[in-house]
Amino acid sequence: MTLKNITRWGAVSQAFHWTIVVLLLVVAVVGLTMGELPRTPKYFWVYTAHKSVGLTILALALLRLGWRLYAGAPPPVAGTPRLQAMIASVTHWALYALIFAMPLSGWLYDSASGLRPFRWFGLAEVPKLSPPNEGLADLANDAHETMFWVLVLLVAAHAGAALYHHIFQRDDTLRRMLPGWRARG
Ligand code: HEM
Ligand code: HEM
Repeated sequence: MTLKNITRWGAVSQAFHWTIVVLLLVVAVVGLTMGELPRTPKYFWVYTAHKSVGLTILALALLRLGWRLYAGAPPPVAGTPRLQAMIASVTHWALYALIFAMPLSGWLYDSASGLRPFRWFGLAEVPKLSPPNEGLADLANDAHETMFWVLVLLVAAHAGAALYHHIFQRDDTLRRMLPGWRARG
């Protein structure tokens, strides 16, 4: 059986999709709450966890994009109107762009803020993308926050569309992104 995405999303694409969904949820919840923490030593640990998981998403996004270019995508389920398929495709590429842009803007913010270097999960020192630069840090921070809310909106539309297909259209759009499903015929 091929791992390529011929009639369904293969196991590799599914694994990338759902792993990144879970990690995004973790990094978003931590990101939104870490500013409220008391300034104890644990505070730095939580920031480092946010940054480390965020950079892990960036690495997975790179691998995922490579796999996507190699393995392709199944055609839209039969009967999908052209315009709808186009909107889905644009949304998917915008989501790809954001899983790169979110961690990159966070990394740039961290770099330009002139903070002490942090270690990825305490293991390896992460290089800085730029020397300290207050203007750039502000810009990257604003981008990090704004793009996050764009991501939230797109994910809501995207997940809503998947559930709409599943519940109301009763087609295979969601099923073929889930483990265990086999194409008919
Ligand atoms: C997909 C990856 C990421 C997501 C979804 C994400 C999401 C978030 C969110 C929702 C916030 C809170 C925004 C606010 O209300 O101000 C935040 C803050 C922050 N993020 Fe990320 N982040 C990601 C990756 C990263 C990475 C890789 C770094 C650094 C290497 C980073 C550094 C920061 C910092 C320093 C803050 C605090 C900003 C402040 O205190 O104003 N993030 N992030
Ligand atoms: C949390 C963030 C999410 C991101 C960043 C994301 C991203 C993506 C991307 C980029 C694709 C296109 C795959 C490709 O071309 O390689 C995709 C497909 C898909 N996603 Fe998500 N997704 C997320 C959440 C969800 C959720 C919560 C659901 C379900 C409720 C879902 C259901 C699907 C389905 C069914 C497909 C396949 C669509 C098709 O076959 O045309 N996704 N997702």
